[in-house]
Amino acid sequence: CKKLGIGLAGFGTVGSGVWNTLEKNGDLISDRTGKGVSLQISKILVRDLAKTRATTSTVPREILTTDWHELVQDPAVDIVVELIGGTSDAFEIVAAALLAKKPVVTGNKALLAERGVELFAISRKMETPIFFEAAIAGGIPIVKTVQDSFVGNQIHSFTGIINGTSNYILEQMTLRGIDYPEALQEAQDLGYAEADPALDVNGWDAAHKAILLATLAYGFPIDPEQIYVTGIEQVRPTDISFAKSLGYVIKLLAIVRERDCGAVELRVQPSFIAKNHILAAVNGVFNAVAVNADAAGESLFYGRGAGQGPTASSVVADLVEAARDLAHTSRHRGFLPYREAGTLVPIEE
Ligand code: NAP
Ligand code: HSE
Repeated sequence: CKKLGIGLAGFGTVGSGVWNTLEKNGDLISDRTGKGVSLQISKILVRDLAKTRATTSTVPREILTTDWHELVQDPAVDIVVELIGGTSDAFEIVAAALLAKKPVVTGNKALLAERGVELFAISRKMETPIFFEAAIAGGIPIVKTVQDSFVGNQIHSFTGIINGTSNYILEQMTLRGIDYPEALQEAQDLGYAEADPALDVNGWDAAHKAILLATLAYGFPIDPEQIYVTGIEQVRPTDISFAKSLGYVIKLLAIVRERDCGAVELRVQPSFIAKNHILAAVNGVFNAVAVNADAAGESLFYGRGAGQGPTASSVVADLVEAARDLAHTSRHRGFLPYREAGTLVPIEE
């Protein structure tokens, strides 16, 4: 049985979700990783060692640190997971991990949208991957879908509701008539919002995700200065009632669209959507990404776009992929793992 050590940078909403998921489903995950490989968090980076955490009782005190160098230099750490957010310290940690040839898993869309060109250059040079399923649409496996399932397609467009916080705020303002600051506070309490919630409401969190979608589909870096971004800060209850009286709802849409001659258009903006359109039913923390691709046609991906469990689910999926690469156990897809017979509930007469 081979153990792979994880250095977890960040132990907030998502980091502790990763800890909980590995605790709860460790055996199942190890089984699926292949050849008895188990994943063990061996170091955790935090800002404040004295903070009381829900997970405090199950986390050995000695694995917590405030020095990120320990995470990267520790020979017991094979994979680095970056979940601290921001673009400064996070950049240092991810770059150092790659230079030490440790694969990285991150949910940090701001980092990759703003500084991905530098980081993926190091990643290519060091032949060490960066996985980022959790960076776009929380628990929805949209990165894998674009990279793997749609590999044979030219993608014409993405139309997405890809910020759970602003979608939650718009829904609560519509349904309960509460005001914007109260709805934002609730989204923060539920663990949906960014540490700096301005990014959620000014459209930039959705824009970062749209930039990553565009790069996945079209392969070139996108300059954040060149895209159109408006958030929901200016949406007032009167706008919502006006939309309703005309048969529409307001949603923050991110649109990535192929235009003529290989050009790509990106925009994020509050938009009127007819109330019987499928995206009008995407409420609360749910996200949806509609993909229009030449062979597959129209597809819609729907799920929880933020929060502890869904985001940890995507991080753990990436961890397993990184672990399979390291342990050379990529055995899946073409094989169904039939084992001993299970119990099937009989059909009731
Ligand atoms: P969070 O709850 O604010 O947690 C951040 C964690 O990082 C905390 O444990 C904090 O330490 C630690 N930290 C922050 N800056 C640090 C520094 N400079 N040095 C050492 N430790 C530092 O954030 P989160 O919601 O888990 O989000 C983490 C990342 O995941 C972000 O990039 C975010 O965009 C992304 N993400 C979040 C969600 C979501 O639903 N929340 C979904 C998708 C992606 P202390 O605990 O000591 O304060
Ligand atoms: N703050 C983000 C959101 C987290 O609300 O969608 C998920 O990326």
